[in-house]
Amino acid sequence: MEEEFFGKLREKILPYFEGVNPCHDISHTERVLNLALAIGEEEGANLEILEVAVLLHDVARKEQDESRGTVCHAGRGGEMAKEILDELGYPLDKIEKVVHCIETHRFRKGNVPESVEAKVLYDSDKLDSIGAIGIGRAFSFSGYLGSHVHFLDLDLTDDEEYGEKDCAYREFLTKLLKVKDKMLTERGRELAEERHDFMVEFFDRINKEVGGEL
Ligand SMILES: [Fe+2]
Ligand SMILES: [Fe+2]
Repeated sequence: MEEEFFGKLREKILPYFEGVNPCHDISHTERVLNLALAIGEEEGANLEILEVAVLLHDVARKEQDESRGTVCHAGRGGEMAKEILDELGYPLDKIEKVVHCIETHRFRKGNVPESVEAKVLYDSDKLDSIGAIGIGRAFSFSGYLGSHVHFLDLDLTDDEEYGEKDCAYREFLTKLLKVKDKMLTERGRELAEERHDFMVEFFDRINKEVGGEL
């Protein structure tokens, strides 16, 4: 039964990921799921609620991108998750728990992750933006935007997000360095510290290579 439910759920979500930018395609959801199950086990989360929430957390991402940010994919994602789960006959009390995780996974506009499952989803989602995979994602996204590989002397005040200098290094300096301080679970914090140190070392190295020192 459970296997059948997850099979149907996966079938239903796939179309929402077609053509989504490389940072948020279905492979992001799969990575977040692997992490969330590992962290969730240590944090004592309900793994069924967590898995359903992870699979559905970014279903509205395409709508947000197409609306140029007018639609919030967390809020809209919660609505879509409810519709999809209703159609699959998923119990209402569980739907509410899943929706809470999705609505709060951006942690904006006072939408605070309160349940342990919501905290684990939040941490796992953020962790995918740092460490080796975070570096991979940042370079992939700058390629998607048509930006250069690296700017050694990056002036963060002279260009906007999504501009031509929106390279991986800019993303690292303006956003990725702050991620480790946002974790909500103990295990999330440990993993974030470790991933953070790796990233710092990587960008230090790339600066030395680009500057001709190595
Ligand atoms: Fe998201
Ligand atoms: Fe996500």
